Amino acid sequence: MPKSRTRFVCQQCGGEQTKWLGRCPDCGAWNTLEEVSLPETSAAAPAPQRRYALLRGAAATVGASAAPTVPQPLSQVKALSHERLSVGYAEMDRVLGGGLVPGSLTLVGGEPGIGKSTLLLQVSGSIAERVGPVLYVSGEESSEQIKMRAERLEISGERLYLLATVELEVICEAIARLKPALVVVDSIQTVFATHLTSAPGSISQVRECTLHLMQMAKSSHIPMFIIGHVTKEGTVAGPKALEHIADCVLYLEGERYHTYRLLRGVKNRFGATHEVGVFEMHGEGLQEVPNPSALFLSEHPGAASGSAVVVSMEGTRPLLVEVQALVTPSNFGIARCTANGIEHNRLLMLLAVLTKRVGLALGNHDVYTNVVGGFTLEEPAVDLGVAAAIASSYRDRRIPPDLALIGEVGLSGELRPVSRLGLRVREAAKLGFKRCLVPASGRTERVRRELEGAGLAEECRVIPASTLAVALEIALH
Ligand code: TYD
Ligand code: MG
Repeated sequence: MPKSRTRFVCQQCGGEQTKWLGRCPDCGAWNTLEEVSLPETSAAAPAPQRRYALLRGAAATVGASAAPTVPQPLSQVKALSHERLSVGYAEMDRVLGGGLVPGSLTLVGGEPGIGKSTLLLQVSGSIAERVGPVLYVSGEESSEQIKMRAERLEISGERLYLLATVELEVICEAIARLKPALVVVDSIQTVFATHLTSAPGSISQVRECTLHLMQMAKSSHIPMFIIGHVTKEGTVAGPKALEHIADCVLYLEGERYHTYRLLRGVKNRFGATHEVGVFEMHGEGLQEVPNPSALFLSEHPGAASGSAVVVSMEGTRPLLVEVQALVTPSNFGIARCTANGIEHNRLLMLLAVLTKRVGLALGNHDVYTNVVGGFTLEEPAVDLGVAAAIASSYRDRRIPPDLALIGEVGLSGELRPVSRLGLRVREAAKLGFKRCLVPASGRTERVRRELEGAGLAEECRVIPASTLAVALEIALH
C-alpha cells in the first residue's frame, strides 16, 4: 500500500517545509503554510517522470518532436518562425509585443467580472474565424452559458470548440485530438490533475497544471491563454511562481463605474512590458479604443481652475490625460490630502515642494486630486501637471486649455528632464495642443527640430522652464 507523505507548502511562494511554521522561511509571509499530502509512488515511476511520460505521449500525438536531452550548440538550435498570430485586436496585439508567439503561454489576470472571459471569447472567435480551430476550456461556466455569451457577442463559432471540464488529463487529451490553433483555459484555479491529492486552486495544483500546460504548449507550438483570478492584494491568486512560469502576464483592469478596461502587460518574454491596450465595455462586448487620448480629452472642459493635461508614457505610447485638483481651506484644523490615481507619497512630496519652493501656504488646506477616466499615473513625468493643477486650484486661475505639461519635479523645486520627450510633445501637438511646457535642458532644441520634421512646428510651441516656480508663472499667467 502506498504510504502518503505530508508537506507544508507556502501558498505564496510555493516553498516546501517538513513541519508547520507561522512564517514561511523562504518568502517571509505569515500564516501561508498549508498541509498537503503527496502520495508516495513506487521507485519505478516517481511522480515527475509519470508527468513527463504523459506529456511526451500528448506531444507526440500533436505531432511535435520531443526536446533533445543532450546539450546542443546554439548554432544548431532551430529558430522558431518569427510569425506571430494576430489575435484580431490591434490593442491586444500591441500589448503582446506584436501578436501571439507560437507555443507561448499567456496568463490573463483580473478581478471577477472585469471581462476576462468576454475578452478571450472574442479573441477565440476571431482566431477560429481567421486561422483554425480553437479550444475554449471552461471550468467555471457550462457550454450553454458560454453559448449565450457568444450569441451576445455575435460569435458564430463554426470552429470554436467548447469543453466544460476541470480535469487536466481531459484537457490534454482534447488538445492532442483537436490540434487547435489556440487554447484558452478559463480559469487555472478550477483545473486539477487527478494524480495530486490537493484541492483545485491550491498552490500545488495550480503550479502543476500550469507547468503541464506550458510543456504542452512548448512542444506542440500551440499558443495558450490561461485565465487567473486575482487576490484581494491584486496579484494572480496562487503562487507568485505562476507569473514566473508564464511567458507573458497581462492584467485586465478597470474601475467599477467606468466602462474603460485597460489591458496591461506586466511581463513579456517576447516584447516590451508596460504596454497598455484600452478597451471599452459595451452591450456587445469589449471594443477597442485606438486613440484613447482623444477620447478622454473630449471630456476636458478646460474652463475650470484646477485642471491640467499631462502626457504619460504607457509602454511605448504617449497618453494625454487630465489631472484635476481641488484645494479648499480645511475646517477642522487638520489638513486632509486625498490622491486618486496618483501615489499618495508623491502627492505629499509635491505639496511640500509647492509650500517650500513656490511659497504656497497649503498647510491649512485640504487637497484632493483625481485622474480623469480612472487611470493610475505612475510616472514622475506627470509631476509638473499635478503640481500645476494644485496651484491652479489654490490661486483659482485656470491653466489655458491648449497647454500640455510635461516634467518631473525635484525636491529643490527644479524641473528634471523626462524620457521620450519628443514623442510626448508630438502626441500633444497632434491632438491640437498649441503649447507644451517642458523641463529646460539641452534636448529642447532637438525636440523642436523633431516637431519641424513632423510638420508640426507651426502648430505647437515648446516652452522650456527650469524650475517649478517659473513653470507655474507661465502656466497661470
Ligand atoms: P466576464 O467576462 O464574465 O468577467 P470575468 O470573466 O472577468 O469574471 O464579464 C462579466 C461582466 O461584463 C458582466 O458584469 C457583464 C459585462 N458584460 C457587458 O457589459 N457586455 C457584454 O457584452 C458582456 C459579454 C459582458
Ligand atoms: Mg470569467
